[in-house]
This record gives sequence, structure tokens and C-alpha cells, in this order.
Amino acid sequence: MFSVPIARPRAFSGIQPTADSLHLGNYLGALKQWVELQDSYDCIYSVVDLHALTVGPDPESLRQRVRATAAQFLAAGVDPERSILFVQSEVPQHTQLTWLLNCVTGFGEAGRMTQFKDKAAKLGDQAVTVGLFDYPVLMAADILLYDAELVPVGEDQRQHLELSRTLAARLNSRFGEGAAVVPEALIVKATAKIYDLQEPTAKMSKTGHPSGIIELLDDPKVIAKRIKSAVTDSGAEVTWDPAAKPGVANLLSIYSALTGQPIEQIVDDYQGKLYGHLKSDLAEVVIAALSPFRERTALYLADPGQLDRILSTGAERAEDIADRVYRRIATRFGLGQAERSR
Ligand code: AMP
Ligand code: TRP
Repeated sequence: MFSVPIARPRAFSGIQPTADSLHLGNYLGALKQWVELQDSYDCIYSVVDLHALTVGPDPESLRQRVRATAAQFLAAGVDPERSILFVQSEVPQHTQLTWLLNCVTGFGEAGRMTQFKDKAAKLGDQAVTVGLFDYPVLMAADILLYDAELVPVGEDQRQHLELSRTLAARLNSRFGEGAAVVPEALIVKATAKIYDLQEPTAKMSKTGHPSGIIELLDDPKVIAKRIKSAVTDSGAEVTWDPAAKPGVANLLSIYSALTGQPIEQIVDDYQGKLYGHLKSDLAEVVIAALSPFRERTALYLADPGQLDRILSTGAERAEDIADRVYRRIATRFGLGQAERSR
């Protein structure tokens, strides 16, 4: 008997190559889910370098960070045998589809994106680019180009995902069903937002407090120091109260996500102990989880030939799908007079 491969639903996600190291928020909010989804979805993961251009990076550091980011996806467990791993700018249909989507996105609709408003307010009128404004439309193109049904991201991407859904639904209502697949966000509540260790009401972010973040490639000594100097709340007893004790709650969330132990059990275990105990144990948990990750990343970076092969195979496989879907959508718009053989 032949076994017929059963088509699995597709998942798509991306991370920007805007730092040398990803941080614990990226890992727990997104990358961890990416790895798990490989068992049940056809997964396509991208280093979204075109998105990174919106912050005007230095060209040489962008080039290095693309590789470093891809190496970290692999080190976390993205498996290039099962999933497609590629660099966004190597598949030209992303920018092509963005143009089509630009022409069905309202100016006001894009202007309501809170991430754009926050970034624009920080930069000031003169420094804000059209690219930054268009960022969420490029993100919608990323997703729609692969007919992705599921998009694993952190909480901060919820509104962007909503825009992607709106645009997909708009294509279907304007051009008829089947023009686009309407994607769902996968935002895992327990880890949707990991907080800054120094300011536990703000999300952990590359642009936040340097000592408020844990980078995945940080030295164990640095990790221990950051966790031990994390801001905790008044009192000394370990309890789960995110509103009143956001600092302790953040530490408990991280502990639980990395060990798989439920929060209640951790709280029980720390009855009669102090914040300091939780912090030193958490430092050990984080270091134990990240040390092998750091070693694997270094191995991938030490073999540029292998990384190149993985990324070029990934781009080829991605473009195969993207080309078909782009043509399907472009045809609905009325583009493409004659089928050219290519
Ligand atoms: P970025 O680095 O902005 O490209 O984000 C990459 C992924 O990490 C996205 O899915 C974000 O939603 C997620 N992410 C970033 N910061 C956090 C955080 N502090 N907590 C949870 N998820 C996050
Ligand atoms: N905007 C996302 C972020 O900053 C990154 C991203 C780009 C993305 N394209 C995507 C995430 C498509 C999911 C799907 O985190």
C-alpha cells in the first residue's frame, strides 16, 4: 500500500534580525511555540530582514544579524528537514504582494496601528518613514503569501494580526472566496508577554532597559546577575498576584514556562521561603536551559557553508509556494494578461 501524504495546515511566523541575540521574550512568546508546532503543522519561518530596514540598520550589522538570527532559530529546534527556514528578502513576492495589499489598505486603518503610533511619537515627524508606516502591510503579505492558517506570535503582534485577517477577508469579499486564507493568531496566554526585569509593567524588549532583558546568548554570569537584581515587589513572600506583584509574577511565569511546572506548584514549593530563594533557583533554571542553546548557536555560526545551504534551500522552497499564491492573488486583481512560460 502507498501511504498518501496528508496535507497539513500551514503556520507562518517571523522575527526581525535587529539584535545580535534574541531575548527571553522572543523565545517564550514565539520561538518555543514555533518548535512545538512542527509536529502538527507545515511550518514556514522567516528572518524578516525587510521589516528590520524600517529601523535603518547599519548594512554590515544587518548582514551579520540575519545569520545570527537564523542560527538561533535552528539552535532552538527549528528543523530544516521538516520546516522551511528562509530570509524574507530572498523571496521577492513579499514586496510584490505588499504593493497589492497597499492598494486595499485604508490610510486611516494603517494609521491606527498602535505600534506605529508609539514608534512615530518617539521618532518625530522628520524621521518617520513610509516603510515604518507600511510595516504591518508587509507583515500581512508575509502571512497571506503562504495561505497560513496559524501565526504564533506574542501579545504585541495581536493588532497586526487583526489587520492581516481584515485584509484577507477583504480580498475574499472583493474578489470572491478563495482569494486568501484568513489566518488565526496563536498567542499563548501564559507567555504572551514577558516583562522587563527592571520595570515589570513594560514588556521585555530590545529597546528597553539593558539590565531588564535576558538575552539568549548572554553569559551565565550576566544572566545570574540580572535575575538576582530583578525588581521585586514589597513584601518577601512568594505569591501569584500579577496586578499587585508584577515583578514576582514575571519571575514565576518564566520559571513555569521553562520547567513545565504549574505556577501553583511553584508557589507551594516556595512557602516559607523568600524572593531571594526563588531568584537564585530561577537563575539556575534559565542558565541550564540556555547553555546548550548558546553552544548550538555557536556551532551553526561556525559552519557558514551549512547555514548557507539551509537558507538557500529554504528560500527556494518558500518561493515555490509564494510564486503560486502571488499569481493567484494578482490574477484576482486583474493583473497578468497572458500566461507566460517562465
Ligand atoms: P520582534 O523581535 O519584534 O521581531 O519579535 C519577535 C517575536 O517575539 C514576536 O512574535 C513578538 O510578539 C515576540 N515577543 C517580543 N517581545 C516579547 C515579550 N516581551 N514577551 C512575549 N513575546 C515577545
Ligand atoms: N512584526 C513581527 C514582530 O515584530 C515580525 C513579523 C514580520 C511577523 N512578519 C511576520 C510575525 C509574519 C508573524 C508573521 O514581531
